[in-house]
Amino acid sequence: MNVNLPKIITIDGPAASGKSTLARKLADYLGYLFFDTGVMYRALTWLVLQKRINLEDKTSISKLAETVLIEITPPSVPDGRAYDVWVNNQDITWAIRQPEVDQNVSLVSTYEGVRKALTEQQRRIGLRGNVVMVGRDIGTVVLPEAPLKIYLDASLEERARRRYQELLQRGQKVDYEQILNMMRERDRLDSTRTIAPLKPARDAILVQSDGKDIQAVFQIVLDLVKKASTRKLENYVIQK
Ligand code: DC
Repeated sequence: MNVNLPKIITIDGPAASGKSTLARKLADYLGYLFFDTGVMYRALTWLVLQKRINLEDKTSISKLAETVLIEITPPSVPDGRAYDVWVNNQDITWAIRQPEVDQNVSLVSTYEGVRKALTEQQRRIGLRGNVVMVGRDIGTVVLPEAPLKIYLDASLEERARRRYQELLQRGQKVDYEQILNMMRERDRLDSTRTIAPLKPARDAILVQSDGKDIQAVFQIVLDLVKKASTRKLENYVIQK
């Protein structure tokens, strides 16, 4: 393996752009840790709902973010999961994918105290290196020094279709229009919040995944990883 490979690779982008699938495959290939930071915001939101804390109560939710222990460990059940997610000795791996969490996670992630607490934990893990880290603000806020930053995008319709298929396969009752609207709203909240909004880092490389399957996207990104190790990325930088 090339010793000059970028030690920290960040993949940011909107909901259902394919970040996690790509990152998981890339991390497996490189022997890196795959860290999906959305899981932390989801686990916190799940706990807020569980404890019936008012979703507008920033102070209580921020306090909870500072104290909660979210554990992400290797998969213990062969049911398609990439990892286990544990909170308070409860396996919440699939619970954090429920529509109720989807509907509220973007709001919870706008709170300053929440972002501060979770960002600190993410940065600490990321700085250990050999990591592919996925989220909304990894390249801009969490690890701006990362040598390779990808911004993975796809149209709203394509992302809604993917999420629809995903939920259908998991046996959930879903409505495409409803998913489309929910996703539009999540995009709005994620990209217009004041703190750490969703946007490409200045030196991120934009990868558009419309009409491409995972293998095609993986090849593009693998090529970028190899180029990053030989510092031939200058022509790819999309924003100065
Ligand atoms: O990637 P995801 O859909 O699992 O993320 C869930 C939510 O978490 C997303 O709507 C916004 C928030 N999030 C964030 O604000 N910052 C991150 N680095 C990751 C996720």
